[in-house]
Amino acid sequence: MKHASLPLPTSGVDLFADDVLHDPYPALRELRDAGPAVRLTAYDAWVLPRYEHVRAALADHERFSSAHGVGYEDQFNVRQKGSVLASDPPDHTRLRAVLSEKLAPKALAKLRTRIAAIADDMVADTVVRGSFDAVTDLAALFPVTVVADLIGLPEDARDPLLTFADGAFNSFGPFNGRTAASLPMAAQLSEYLTTVMVRDNLRPDGWAAAVYEAADRGDIEASSVIPLLGAYVVAGMDTTINAIGNTILLFARHPQSYQELRADPSLLGSAFEESLRLESPAQGFFRRTTQPVDIEGVTVPADTKVLLSFASANRDDRKWERPEEFLVRRNPVDHVALGYGVHGCAGQGLARMEAHAVLGALVRQVSSVELAGEPVRKLNNVTRGLASLPVTVRTQGR
Ligand code: HEM
Repeated sequence: MKHASLPLPTSGVDLFADDVLHDPYPALRELRDAGPAVRLTAYDAWVLPRYEHVRAALADHERFSSAHGVGYEDQFNVRQKGSVLASDPPDHTRLRAVLSEKLAPKALAKLRTRIAAIADDMVADTVVRGSFDAVTDLAALFPVTVVADLIGLPEDARDPLLTFADGAFNSFGPFNGRTAASLPMAAQLSEYLTTVMVRDNLRPDGWAAAVYEAADRGDIEASSVIPLLGAYVVAGMDTTINAIGNTILLFARHPQSYQELRADPSLLGSAFEESLRLESPAQGFFRRTTQPVDIEGVTVPADTKVLLSFASANRDDRKWERPEEFLVRRNPVDHVALGYGVHGCAGQGLARMEAHAVLGALVRQVSSVELAGEPVRKLNNVTRGLASLPVTVRTQGR
C-alpha cells in the first residue's frame, strides 16, 4: 500500500543511558507514540518500536539484514562474523543446521528428566536456607550448569562463561561506559573459547564436538567453529538467567499470581511466556536495511542500522490489552522476546525446558516468595535482568 509522506519522526532519547536502562518503559512508550519508525538523534540509527513492524521486520531478512552483525558498533560486529546471528540465508541456513538436531524437540525430550532432576536438587538445596539470593544462588547457577554440560565442557571451564556472556551482550550496544568496561571480557571470550574448546577437552556427545564434526565434513568453514560455539554460549546463558530471575521477581511482587500457580501448576508455561513478554530478557537487536523501506509512510533509508525493540513491541497497547500487567493466564505465545522468523531463538525449546524445570520446582517446594531486600538491577546494553534478588521463602513444612 502507498502512504502519503509524513514528517520524519525523530527522538533524542538515549535508549542506552543508565536511567533509561533502569526503567525503559516510559521512553519506549514515547517512541511508539512518536511513529512507526523513529530516527534516534543520539545515534546513527533508527528504531522500530511497535509490535506489528518489529514482527514484520523479523520476518523480512531480505530487507532487514543480519549479515553485518546484530549490534550497533561495526568494530564489535566483526567479532560476530561467521556466527549464526550475524548471517543471512543461505549462509545462515547452513550455520543454523549444525546444531538444530541437538536442539530439536526429539533431542530435548531425552534431556527433560536430567534437567528436571538438576533443577529439583538445586532448588531443594537452596530453599532449605529460607533466605537466599534468587539470582546468584539459583537463576545464574542453573543455566550455566545445564549449557556447559550440553556443550560438553569440563567442570572447571564453567565459571568464567558467566562473566564473558554479560560482556559480550554489552558490546552489542553503542560504545558507552558499559561497553568500555566489558571490552576486556568480550575479547577474552573468544580467546577463552579457543583454548577451552579444543577437541581433547570436550565430551564426544556434546554440542561442541558436533560443531567440529560439521567442519570436518565441510558443512561449515573451520573458521566458523569458535564464533558459532561462542554464539550458543552467549545466547544461551544471560538470556535464560535473566528470564528466570525476572520471573522470580514477578512472583515475589505478585503473591496472588504465585498462589494461582501453586493451585494450578499447568499455568506455569503461560506465566513464563507472560514474564518474557513483560520483561524481555533480550531487549532488542539491530538489523541493517538493504534498501529504503516504507513503514506506514515513513521511509527508513537504505544501509541504515535499525533497532528492533522487542521490549517495546511486547508492551505495545496496539497489540496487547493491559500490556503493563502480569497476567499469568494470558499465555502470550506470539510475543517477540525470542525473536521470530529465520533467526527466531534456536534455543527456545531448551530455554523453556530449563525455566519450567526450575520455576516448577520452586512452585512445588515453596509456598511463598517474599522480597528480603531491594533487588539490584544489572544494567546491560542489550539484556534486562538482575544482579541480585534477595528473597525469603516458606517451604511446605514451615
Ligand atoms: C529465555 C531465554 C532466551 C531468550 C529470551 C532468547 C532470545 C533470543 C532472541 C530474541 C533471538 C533472536 C536474535 C535475532 O533476531 O537476531 C535469539 C536467537 C538465538 N538464541 Fe536465544 N534466547 C534464549 C535462550 C537461548 C538458549 C538457551 C540458547 C541455546 C543454548 C539460545 C540460542 C540462540 C541462538 C543460537 C540464536 C541465534 C539464532 C539465529 O540467528 O538463527 N537462546 N535468542
